[in-house]
Amino acid sequence: MANSKDSITHIDQFLQLQNDLDLLKFITCGSVDDGKSTLIGRLLFEAKCIFDDQVSSLKNESAAYGTQGTDIDYALLVDGLAAEREQGITIDVAYRFFNTDKRKFIVADTPGHEQYTRNMVTGASTTDLAVILIDARKGVLEQSKRHAFICSLLGIKHVLLAINKMDLVDYQQTSFNTIEQDFSQFAKQLNFNKVSAIPVSALKGDNIIDRSSHMTWFKGPTLMAFLETVPTAMGLEDHAFRMPVQWVNRPHLDFRGFSGTVAAGIIEVGEEIRILPSGSIAKVQDIILFDQHLPKARAGQAVTITLDKEVDASRGDMLVAAQAPCEVSDQFEVELVWMDQEQGYTGRSYGLQIGTNWVKAQITDIKHTINVNTLEHNAARALNLNDIAVVTLSLDQAVAFETFANCQPLGSLILVDRFSNATVAAGMIKHALRRSSNVHKQALTVSKIDRNQSNGHRGKVLWLTGLSGSGKSTIANILEQKLHQQGIRTYLLDGDNVRHGLNKDLGFTEADRVENIRRITEVAHLMVDAGLVVITAFISPFKAERNAARARFEDGEFVEIFVNTPLDVAEQRDPKGLYKKARRGEIPNFTGINSPYEAPENADFEVDTSVLSAERIAQQLLQHVISDLELS
Ligand code: ADX
Repeated sequence: MANSKDSITHIDQFLQLQNDLDLLKFITCGSVDDGKSTLIGRLLFEAKCIFDDQVSSLKNESAAYGTQGTDIDYALLVDGLAAEREQGITIDVAYRFFNTDKRKFIVADTPGHEQYTRNMVTGASTTDLAVILIDARKGVLEQSKRHAFICSLLGIKHVLLAINKMDLVDYQQTSFNTIEQDFSQFAKQLNFNKVSAIPVSALKGDNIIDRSSHMTWFKGPTLMAFLETVPTAMGLEDHAFRMPVQWVNRPHLDFRGFSGTVAAGIIEVGEEIRILPSGSIAKVQDIILFDQHLPKARAGQAVTITLDKEVDASRGDMLVAAQAPCEVSDQFEVELVWMDQEQGYTGRSYGLQIGTNWVKAQITDIKHTINVNTLEHNAARALNLNDIAVVTLSLDQAVAFETFANCQPLGSLILVDRFSNATVAAGMIKHALRRSSNVHKQALTVSKIDRNQSNGHRGKVLWLTGLSGSGKSTIANILEQKLHQQGIRTYLLDGDNVRHGLNKDLGFTEADRVENIRRITEVAHLMVDAGLVVITAFISPFKAERNAARARFEDGEFVEIFVNTPLDVAEQRDPKGLYKKARRGEIPNFTGINSPYEAPENADFEVDTSVLSAERIAQQLLQHVISDLELS
C-alpha cells in the first residue's frame, strides 16, 4: 500500500509539473513529400511520447506499409487515418499533444496539397508559430509560399523554416543559405515579425534533438531546442479587458450576473466597465467562479461578473474596460476564406457569428480574390471553395469588435449558411468601414402608418415565383388590374422590365440572380413602406433569396405565390422562344434547363396555370389578399 501512496505523490508531482509548464501551439505546413509526417513522428518518438504498444505496432506497420525497409517509418505515427495510409497522403487536421520537461506542445498538422486551405485555417488559428517544411533539394516552392501567406493571413507572427532532407544535398551550407534568402525575400511582403531557419534531416535525425555532426557550420539550436525556448505569442492578458456576454445569469430577483469567458485583458473588482453597443457604464461588484469570489479575472477564465447598478445587457453584448472601449460597427472590410462547396455571392444573406453574437450579414462587395501562389489580386463575382478574398460585409446590427490584427478572438468571425447551418467561411476583420459610422438612419416624420391611413389600406408584397413561361407576368397583370379597380394603390415589378433599367448590368449567373433579387427586395421594401401593394414577377429561383426577401418584411407583409406550372407546359408555351434556344445550347444558365429552380416548400399560395386560367387564379388571389389589406 505504501507503494500506491508513493505513486499518488508521484502522480501529484507529475501533474503539478505539467501544470507549471508553459504551452507552445504550433502548426506544421508542408506536403507529404517534404517529409512532414516523418518530422513530427520523430519529434514525438524522441520526446518519448509514444507508448510502448504504439512503438511495437509502429514497428509492425513499418514493415507492412512503411517506405523505409526494416527501419521504423516515423510517418506512420502521424498518418493515422487508414485512407491516407492507402493513398499515401494526409487528409485532415490532426492535433497532437506532447511534452518535454521544459514545455507542453500542441501541434496542428495540416495537409499540404492545394485544395485544403480550409484545413490550414482550422489548424492555424491561435497558434504561436508555424513550422514550414522545405525540401532542401527543391527549395521554396509555390506551395511553401502559399503556406506562408495563409499563416500570415491568420496572424501567425513567427515562422520556422525546417529545411529538410539536408542529407540529400550533402549537408551543404550553400543550399541552406539560398533557401533561407529566397524565403526571406518572399516573406518581406507578409506580416511576420521573425523568420528563423534550421537545416535538418528528419529521416536521419540531424538537428532534430541532437546536433548534427554533418553540419557543424550551423550554429543555431536544434529543432527541439528551438521549440522548447521560442517565445510564445503575446498573451491576451496584455490587452485591454474584453468579455463577450454569453448569458445573463439571473437565478433569482436579487442576483443578476453576466457570464462569459474573458477574451482579453484582466478585470478587477471595483473597476469601471462599459457595456457595448449601448455604452452604459458601471463598476464591477463581484467576480464569481463557481462558488469562489475572485479579486480579478484574466483572459481565458470563464466567470460571472456582477455590477454595482442595474444596466441592460444581453447575450452578444460586450463588457469592456470603460476607459479603453472597442469600436462598434455594422460594416466591415474583411479577409474571407471561403470553405464551402457552394459558391458565395454578394447580396445573399448569411448567419454571422462574432464572439457570442449571432447576426445576419450580407457580402456587399467582393473587392478581389488573392492568388495565394503569386499574391496577385483578381476580380471575382463569386467565391469558390478555398478562395481567399477581401470583401465588405454589412450586418443587420452593430456589434462590438476588434480588428483581427489587434485581438484575434474578437476580430474573427464565421459565416454560416442560414438553412443548412454549415460554416461557409472564416473571416478576419481588417477594419470597419467609415461609412457605417457616418451614415445614420434619418427618422421620418410621416410614418408608414400615416401613409397607410391616407391610402386607406395596408401595403404588401405579392411575390410570384416560378419558371420562365409559367404565367407569372400574365397573372400579375390581371391581379394588378383587379386591385386597381378596387381603388388599391399598386405597382408591378416584372423581371423583364426591371432588367431593362435598374438591373441592366445583371445577367443570369447565380451571382447575378442573387443580386437581382436582393435589389428587387429592397425596392419592394421601399414601396411597401410607401404603402403600396407591390406585385413582383421574377423567377427568383433560389430559396435563400426568397427567404431573405420574406425576412426583410414585417410578419404578414410578404406573400409568396408559387406559380407551379410544370416545365414541359412552360416549355411548350415558350412565349419568347427562349426554351428552344436554350435546348439548342444557345443560352447558358437557362432556368429549368441548365440552371436550377428550387421550388418553394411552404409558399403561402400555390397555383398551376395548366389547370386553371390566369383569370381564375388572379380572381382567387384577389379574394385572399383583399381582406388582409383592410386597416384595423
Ligand atoms: S431571375 O432568375 O433573376 O429571377 P428574372 O425573373 O429577373 O430572373 O428574369 C427572367 C426572364 O429573363 C425570363 O422570363 C426570360 O424572359 C429572360 N431570360 C433570359 N435569359 C434567361 C436565362 N438564362 N434564364 C432564365 N430566364 C432568362
